[in-house]
Amino acid sequence: MATGLFPGLADWQPAEFVSRLGGAGYTGDVVKEAPSPLRVPYTPVARQAALALLADSNTPFATAARLFHLGDAVPLQNAMDLLGWTIRDLMDLGLVHSNDGFVEAAVQISPQGEEWIATDFPHKQTDHEADWVMGVGPSTRQLNHLIPPIDQPHILEAGCGIGWVARQQVRRGATAVATDINPRALALARLNDRLNQVEGITYAEGDFFLAAAEFAPFDVIVANPPYILSPGGDRTYCETPDGQTLCKSVVSRAADYLKPGGYAIVLLNWVHETDDDWADEPLRWLGDASVQCWLHQTECSSPEQYAWQWVHTDPRLTDPGSVAREYHRWLTFYREREVQRISLGCCFIRNPLPEEPGWRRTNARQLRGFSPLAGQDLDTVMRNETWLRQTEPDTDTLLDTLYQPAQGIGAAVQMVLREGWRRDVIDLHSPGQLAYGGQIDETVLRLLELLAQGQPARQLVASLQAKAADNARTSITQEIAGLVRNLLAFGLVTRSQ
Ligand SMILES: C[S@@+](CC[C@H](N)C(=O)[O-])C[C@H]1O[C@@H](n2cnc3c(N)ncnc32)[C@H](O)[C@@H]1O
Repeated sequence: MATGLFPGLADWQPAEFVSRLGGAGYTGDVVKEAPSPLRVPYTPVARQAALALLADSNTPFATAARLFHLGDAVPLQNAMDLLGWTIRDLMDLGLVHSNDGFVEAAVQISPQGEEWIATDFPHKQTDHEADWVMGVGPSTRQLNHLIPPIDQPHILEAGCGIGWVARQQVRRGATAVATDINPRALALARLNDRLNQVEGITYAEGDFFLAAAEFAPFDVIVANPPYILSPGGDRTYCETPDGQTLCKSVVSRAADYLKPGGYAIVLLNWVHETDDDWADEPLRWLGDASVQCWLHQTECSSPEQYAWQWVHTDPRLTDPGSVAREYHRWLTFYREREVQRISLGCCFIRNPLPEEPGWRRTNARQLRGFSPLAGQDLDTVMRNETWLRQTEPDTDTLLDTLYQPAQGIGAAVQMVLREGWRRDVIDLHSPGQLAYGGQIDETVLRLLELLAQGQPARQLVASLQAKAADNARTSITQEIAGLVRNLLAFGLVTRSQ
């Protein structure tokens, strides 16, 4: 644990503390409710505005929000009204400290849904430049959604921050190891465990994998490494200043720590030269390792778009001049290295079972968020792709094998109206919206319906051929076999057992 941070945590009983916060109405539901100054995404101005809105209120709720959500100093009497004598335990623990009749919290403690999230205050990024710890971001949740449905898996969250993913998985029966190079992150992760009464996560300080080596191999490894390709800066949680080394380091080593059949899920950014060569660099990192890899590009930006996206939202830059100077620094960095494009995506690696082949597959598709079933998509795609590569099924095998639509598959018919004519469009998505989302024609829907009834695709060939001219029959066979292949590749069907 980081020296001096939360001494005595293992013996601390948080029940009264959280019950007092809940009693003050500082709950996930209230904080989520509109209109609330606590809901706005963090910016320095939004924080100031939220503080101004709460300034005249002395309710326990306002005290809780100022103290634990916004990181304000509140009068000791207000803090006592909120916390009672439990404030002494919090002081011993270093969660709050008093100064000149005011009390301040050391870290943010916010209710989110049924959970408590303890992390660094966003406005403290300037104080803790190097070891500031992030809370639960969209990428954290994506990572969690991407975990395949495996019964009681042994999981590694590599670069765990506050260990949120490990905690979600342990609640569902996993055993988890979580590593981080930042001791402050591990101290906060343990605080979160305590606040949420989760036990059993093994924490190890150090490198993503080396620190976890004694607990390997794993069924699942998840990593959301610091992937921002910045020109330099020492924010451990997000920046990979010296080129692409951190993402490369994770992608190239993950398979060594997986069980056969185990998955590594890595979120990453990387640079490339053109719109066509986007997959080359991450695949190069894998070398000729005999692993199954699905590289998914979700966004591709110019250096200008990329730099602006990160620089203008950097909470440390509080005036327009510093934003402009930083933006130019980033662009100069890219220009000097002749960086033309920067991609964002996920790399899914599976360690093959004995007899299974290694393979590489790439897809580029913008995603409108993942559903919690994204991990199911991932598992289905990886298994189907392996079957297609291993057995190289011919047309007859594709048409005669029995399949079922993946559970949770969704189709919706939209009516598109344009100047006097009307068209129905069928949208289909894979259960987790990771593998497929797009328009299909009626034949695909008929095929899925048939498969759902336990019939082989051959039946559809027969009924289409019955109405077709002689010279179209062969092409119908090929077309339906091709559709089956695509349904498998995009995780829309699984083979029946
Ligand atoms: C983007 S944060 C992700 C945290 C958490 N897994 C999540 O998804 O919210 C990246 C984490 O990796 C940690 N980290 C950075 N370099 C590392 C290294 N070489 N070895 C292990 N962890 C590292 C950082 O301290 C940080 O907590």
